[in-house]
Amino acid sequence: LQERTVGHAPQARTTGTWKEWLPPVVLDFWSAEFGSLWAADRVRARVVRRQQETADCVTLWLQPNRRFTGFAPGQHLNLTVEVDGRRLSRSYSPSSAPRADGRVAITVQCIPGGKVSEQLCRRTRVGDVLELGKAFGAMTPTAAGTAPLLLLAAGSGITPLASLVRSAAARGFSREITLLYWARTAADFCFAAELAALAQREPRFHLQLLSTRETALLTPGGRISAALLQNLVPDLEQRQVYACGPAGFVQAAQALTAARAHGFVGESFSVAAAPAALPADARVRVELAASGRTLELAAGESLLVALEAAGFNPAHGCRMGVCNTCSCLKLEGSTQDLRSGVLHHEPDSRVQLCISRPAGDLRLDL
Ligand SMILES: Cc1cc2nc3c(=O)[nH]c(=O)nc-3n(C[C@H](O)[C@H](O)[C@H](O)COP(=O)(O)OP(=O)(O)OC[C@H]3O[C@@H](n4cnc5c(N)ncnc54)[C@H](O)[C@@H]3O)c2cc1C
Ligand code: FES
Repeated sequence: LQERTVGHAPQARTTGTWKEWLPPVVLDFWSAEFGSLWAADRVRARVVRRQQETADCVTLWLQPNRRFTGFAPGQHLNLTVEVDGRRLSRSYSPSSAPRADGRVAITVQCIPGGKVSEQLCRRTRVGDVLELGKAFGAMTPTAAGTAPLLLLAAGSGITPLASLVRSAAARGFSREITLLYWARTAADFCFAAELAALAQREPRFHLQLLSTRETALLTPGGRISAALLQNLVPDLEQRQVYACGPAGFVQAAQALTAARAHGFVGESFSVAAAPAALPADARVRVELAASGRTLELAAGESLLVALEAAGFNPAHGCRMGVCNTCSCLKLEGSTQDLRSGVLHHEPDSRVQLCISRPAGDLRLDL
């Protein structure tokens, strides 16, 4: 701020817009320093309530500032927090229905050793201020649609689907919804009492909780399978399916339902990696043209993880190829899509750092 004030001629202040002599980034910095929600360019949100859902899941209710443009049930938001002096972003799916006062609930499962989830579950308190990105994601059935829904959730994949169910409940269930929800044990289900009460009250909402580790709870089987779906959802052909959870679960759900159901949309919270193009211990030279640095990086990891390990903090969000925040220009060299294994050799093309491995030396516009 001092630099800008000293370095500019007086007329720059009177003829330029306020943004020219008082950049939003400076205002936002000082606003954050004072714990304020106000921001010129960003969505800040204050934690207004904290609720323990299970031993390792916490719901944080957030009150965003007026820059927040909302979300559709089933979408996700990138959330940025400071952990040990570094700004880190991850995606979380609102578990609440959209509300008139703008409040949003996110439900976070604590991953042991996870940087952001541990921060949110163990250390974030009421009154803390976080940063939110724009909503994204395709698991958004239109309110006008009529096909009955089949919602398949595993673990923390329940969050966007809980938002869909809660929104439908708020509007009065215009169509049939069946939710099959898998967790390890009875103690690991989030919102179980609320969902069960809703299923008892609402003839158009059906719920099946399925434990993968406690056989007493199984009705009629454990993990997702053709036999289990046949038993619980005999009218699969008419259903629009939404599946969310770990990559393996979403892949299985897709294989079992996509060809038969009315429609299928799946989103996973983790990436299933294809075999790497280069040996696991290979290293490559990556030139960062904009920073004037050349690094030697491990070839087996995503470029995002490898750059972070080398001390860089490229912009990122979902870390699995959905939000596009990490997209940057690849000037030269080859990369591999780590989900599909497909190689990309085109120069001057965009690459998503979180789902791309280097397949040789690279030049990036970073
Ligand atoms: C679109 C989208 C929506 C999401 N919504 C939610 C949500 O509503 N609630 C929620 O709790 N999480 C959600 N996630 C996962 C979340 O973004 C983070 O990946 C998760 O909180 C772990 O981040 P971390 O910083 O704690 O772990 P990191 O420090 O990034 O990773 C630590 C270790 O945990 C592993 N790991 C990372 N993510 C997971 C995971 N999900 N399950 C198991 N192991 C993992 C990593 O491979 C690594 O070994 C969502 C992810 C995506 C892509
Ligand atoms: S971080 Fe979301 S696409 Fe890479």
